[in-house]
Amino acid sequence: MKEQGTQIIEGFSKLGRREREELIVQSFGLDTSWLEVLASFRHPEGDQQKKMESFSENTLSNYHLPLGVAPNFLINGRMYALPMLTEESSVVAAAANAAKYWARRGGFHTRVSGTRKTGQVHFLYKGDGEQLKKYWPRIRSAIEEALLPVTLSMQQRGGGVREINLIDLNRQMPAYYQVDMAFETADAMGANFINTCLETAAGAMQQYFSEQLPEDELQIIMSILSNYTPGCLAEATISCRIDQLSPAPGGLEPLVFASKFKTATDIAHIDVKRAVTHNKGIMNGVDALVLATGNDFRAVEANAQAFAAREGKYSALTECSLEEGIFSLTLRLPLAMGTVGGLTSLHPLAAFSLELLGKPSAANLMQITAAAGLASNFAAIASLVSTGIQKGHMKLHLENILNALSASKQEKKIITHHFARRTVSVTEVKKLLTEIRNRQHD
Ligand code: MEV
Repeated sequence: MKEQGTQIIEGFSKLGRREREELIVQSFGLDTSWLEVLASFRHPEGDQQKKMESFSENTLSNYHLPLGVAPNFLINGRMYALPMLTEESSVVAAAANAAKYWARRGGFHTRVSGTRKTGQVHFLYKGDGEQLKKYWPRIRSAIEEALLPVTLSMQQRGGGVREINLIDLNRQMPAYYQVDMAFETADAMGANFINTCLETAAGAMQQYFSEQLPEDELQIIMSILSNYTPGCLAEATISCRIDQLSPAPGGLEPLVFASKFKTATDIAHIDVKRAVTHNKGIMNGVDALVLATGNDFRAVEANAQAFAAREGKYSALTECSLEEGIFSLTLRLPLAMGTVGGLTSLHPLAAFSLELLGKPSAANLMQITAAAGLASNFAAIASLVSTGIQKGHMKLHLENILNALSASKQEKKIITHHFARRTVSVTEVKKLLTEIRNRQHD
């Protein structure tokens, strides 16, 4: 008998859910009370639970996260309430505060400077490179022909394949080439479409070689979209006269606030340790919106981080300027998002989120998401250069503790007043609550 913990579990995916949870609880020595916890987060047996389970594999339960709303986002003259899904306290409150502050100063100005995505067939060609280039126009025609049936429906929606190029990367790796393809995917994120096109292209190449060229000199390595989409950029800006920043966060003089803000942003352009945290603050807003609308946050994250390092050094995604008395903050980031397909309509709360946003096009959603990222960045830096972030965090932390301890309205009032200038800790809050309750019983 193998030692516990090294045994391979065979056929796990074939088990029913009840058997799966029991096996997990038994194999990992978990208390059986966890079964109740898992059950408590599932919907009653029925369509809704079936739908949840269809999103992924080997499911045990549903993992709930709070869906919040940040109202007062004035974006290009239109007012939005942004759905935000996050587990981090203060993120929604901070975005909402920044949105309200900027709604009184002209709001967010956003645009997209492209929606183009790419994908590559990576292959090795060991034969004569010049021959390959000579034959390339014919190979490309074969690819185009093979793509016709695959792209028909996307073309009807305004998308399709825009370019097919051969890229010689022999200098980086001997015999390495790419078929680099550019796509427009209308309102879909388009991963399936792009990957289907790439695999079709690879098949067409293989076929061409088998008929026209020495087949053994070609080795297709892989065909896959690129999650790096610098051709799919969203931009959001907030700006106003420096004196209009009044009342500035933390009661600072507007000019002091603006110049500290700019310095803080500039620091994130020269110091990678600060840049990562700075960008994390941006992604607080971006990811919350990406998740709420059922988009792929791993793709969005990988894309944004690569873009932040596009000049060979990781740097901040926002830029602040103070010119001619104008404070201006701009976020530029690549975003590949969709408003149709994938989870966007399958998950009822993703569908709700998109409905709340007025059923935006993919390009609109990219802009709204950039505004959420910019608001989060503004809120973070505004706190950091004025009161510090702990003050706001502690207020929410205290609220959470008081809710967990089922404090009454009156108890909350007394305790909040007590901790206005003191450090919050669970032990101290519990102690004070017990004292208050004991006093009431005296
Ligand atoms: C916390 O979630 C995000 C911040 O650290 C961002 C920043 O430092 O800019 C406050």
